[in-house]
Amino acid sequence: MSEFHNPGLVIEPGRVRSGKIIWRSPSNIALIKYWGKYGTQMPANPSVSFTLDAAHTETTLEYGPKMTEKKGVSVDFLFQGLTNKVFSDRIEKFLLQLLPVFPFLSQIELTIFSSNSFPHSAGIASSASAMSALALCLCSMEDELFGTLQDDEAFDRKASYVARLGSGSACRSIYPEVALWGEITESSKSSNLYAIPWGNHLHTEFKNMHDDILIVDKAEKSISSSVGHQLMDSNPYSETRYMTVQLRMKRMLMALKTGDMELFGELTEQEAMTLHGLMMLSEPSYMLLRPGTLAIIEEVRRFRQETKLPLYFTLDAGPNVHLLYPHKYNSKIGEFVRSNLLKHCYENSFIPDQMGSGPQQL
Ligand code: PMV
Repeated sequence: MSEFHNPGLVIEPGRVRSGKIIWRSPSNIALIKYWGKYGTQMPANPSVSFTLDAAHTETTLEYGPKMTEKKGVSVDFLFQGLTNKVFSDRIEKFLLQLLPVFPFLSQIELTIFSSNSFPHSAGIASSASAMSALALCLCSMEDELFGTLQDDEAFDRKASYVARLGSGSACRSIYPEVALWGEITESSKSSNLYAIPWGNHLHTEFKNMHDDILIVDKAEKSISSSVGHQLMDSNPYSETRYMTVQLRMKRMLMALKTGDMELFGELTEQEAMTLHGLMMLSEPSYMLLRPGTLAIIEEVRRFRQETKLPLYFTLDAGPNVHLLYPHKYNSKIGEFVRSNLLKHCYENSFIPDQMGSGPQQL
């Protein structure tokens, strides 16, 4: 039984209260990527990410006594104000899986309203912000009903654990600035079960990093992340990946700590290319990069060579490009983005984002 399973979290019959909880939770961008998993959403390797700010989900959870005889969980889920069957089914399955963690979920009726700050169709992965916002609401509900999560560290850890079960990368969205997920020898607190905060290890050079998310293509991905993770099981290069990423992680943590911007950039870009290289090398092979993605990468490299400014790219599991750079170069780089890069984007669209201070209860 996991340390988070708690059969004692049951409400006395007839004492079910009503309540409402709202959390806003951000997305995050991995520098060292989680790609490949085993068991129940356990990462094949450790990952580290910047927490974002503008790209976030706001989730309202309303709960009250259960009025129906329905067994299991009773939930209504509305996305951007509308019923969404695909999302509802996913949420119901997720909550059922959480019954050993929150047994009281079978005693109440839930209505969940969720909305994103960015268009759902923008091709931006929203599972990290959505699942972390929901996990935070569930932990707040436990605390309101039982007073069991008064300690901030325990609260965050449980929220991160629950978010991970919804979507692996979501466990990192719980913390401000930087989060680390997966066991590493450098920290005895690190775990495969949840992420831990890593902002205290961040050199001032990296405070207020920008992340301009360039929307190259807003179409839904042809291969979902969960299929992508699965394909790592049969990828002939996966063992090499799991071995080499350990050293890359150590070097990345060193770069973040010492303020080595150049090393940070080099490793960040290597990771982006490795992620997409692994997709192309999987069997069957697939590719999520678009011509616009490659054009942007080439332009970024040329700009860096010419100007010597620290502008670096990374990629998620999709064609959109994340541009990372320190705040002090905002105006020069902003000009370059507008004049040279937006033409490669879908309808010139991008989301100017930056490192954020983590989720907020509203
Ligand atoms: O959390 P998932 O299952 O959607 O996987 C996300 C994987 C990447 O975004 C590609 C990398 C990462 O660490 O966020």
